[in-house]
Amino acid sequence: MTTPNTPITVGILGASSYTGCELLRLLSRHDGIQVAFVSSRSYAGTPLSTIFPALRGICDRACITPEDATAAQADCVFSCLPHGVSASYLLPFIERGIRVIDLSADFRLQDAAEYARWYGKDHPAPHLLSTAVYGLVEHFRDRIAGAAIVANPGCYPTGMLLPLLPLAARGGIDTARGPLITDAKSGLSGAGRALKLTSHFVEANESMSAYAAGQRHRHVSEMRRLLGDACAQAGTEMPHFIFTPHLLPVNRGILSTIYVPATIDARTCHHMLEEAYAAQRFIRVRPFGQLPALRDVVYSNYCDIGVTDVPDQDTVIIVSAIDNLTRGASGQAIQNMNCMMGFPEHTALGL
Ligand SMILES: NC(=O)c1ccc[n+]([C@@H]2O[C@H](COP(=O)([O-])OP(=O)(O)OC[C@H]3O[C@@H](n4cnc5c(N)ncnc54)[C@H](OP(=O)(O)O)[C@@H]3O)[C@@H](O)[C@H]2O)c1
Repeated sequence: MTTPNTPITVGILGASSYTGCELLRLLSRHDGIQVAFVSSRSYAGTPLSTIFPALRGICDRACITPEDATAAQADCVFSCLPHGVSASYLLPFIERGIRVIDLSADFRLQDAAEYARWYGKDHPAPHLLSTAVYGLVEHFRDRIAGAAIVANPGCYPTGMLLPLLPLAARGGIDTARGPLITDAKSGLSGAGRALKLTSHFVEANESMSAYAAGQRHRHVSEMRRLLGDACAQAGTEMPHFIFTPHLLPVNRGILSTIYVPATIDARTCHHMLEEAYAAQRFIRVRPFGQLPALRDVVYSNYCDIGVTDVPDQDTVIIVSAIDNLTRGASGQAIQNMNCMMGFPEHTALGL
């Protein structure tokens, strides 16, 4: 791998977001990049360090409007905009041959009809959907390196797919004996910085609630696509799965408990995951029976995975822990950028 000699320039659309702030926190450790622009509608003209005082001395650059940003130059652009908006703002960059990493869901599905069904509007560039590469680096590294558009994975799918893809691709999930159940709990930053009643301190603190149960969460479409492809690799059917997200009154982190109807016993499952990720720096598979906690991964790009059994039953329990803003969003986006731009993959992401 040859590292670029001159710093590359990056732009951030929607820099006034939680994921934008996290990108800048991490990029401040990256010697190989310079920030070319940061955008925000509501804070245009305001230094980013006024919005996020933690960035004082790190990024004091003033925000420009997203409209002005689309004419700006950069080698790589990150979008921290909401789905349904992001692809339209990225199009002018893509048309100019600038490589983009979309943290929203706009390029995660490959079927325009599926996108319209889950996101409630037509995609502005359906012809580009099949060209976007899903940015789960440990699984699609080679394609990401040459990609023009990288669809950064969703936070819940990251926590679910990292443990499940190796098992699905090796026929380890018993697709006839469902369902596969994922019960995921997310910190409140997962809901973004905009004001919402459910994220108010009094609503969320000392409580916990399920939402979008019954396969209603949009990330189901993304998980189904990736899990289906992995099962097809093994020549098996897509398992029937159920996904229920929960709001947890912490700032960051996603803990996913996954109940797998497996074709193999829990120790073999564990061994499969150990083997699959032995050479992957950001995936840590715990010794059998040890389960991860959020405190082990917050502010890091790690996904920690634990596997245990249910005595006298053939269900395997897998627990994964990630930081939604780092491994589930901005850390993963930088891992993708490093891969696309020829930097060592862990640059700016070490502990
Ligand atoms: N939060 C997470 O843990 C997480 C994890 C994975 C992926 N994501 C995805 O990453 C993206 C950013 O998430 P976030 O939670 O960081 O968002 P956020 O804190 O809610 O910020 C959203 C950003 O988009 C801008 N924006 C909102 N509506 C807009 C519009 N109609 N036109 C132009 N700009 C608009 C906002 O700023 P202005 O109003 O100032 O322009 C802000 O900069 C989303 O697509 C989200 O789904 C988030």
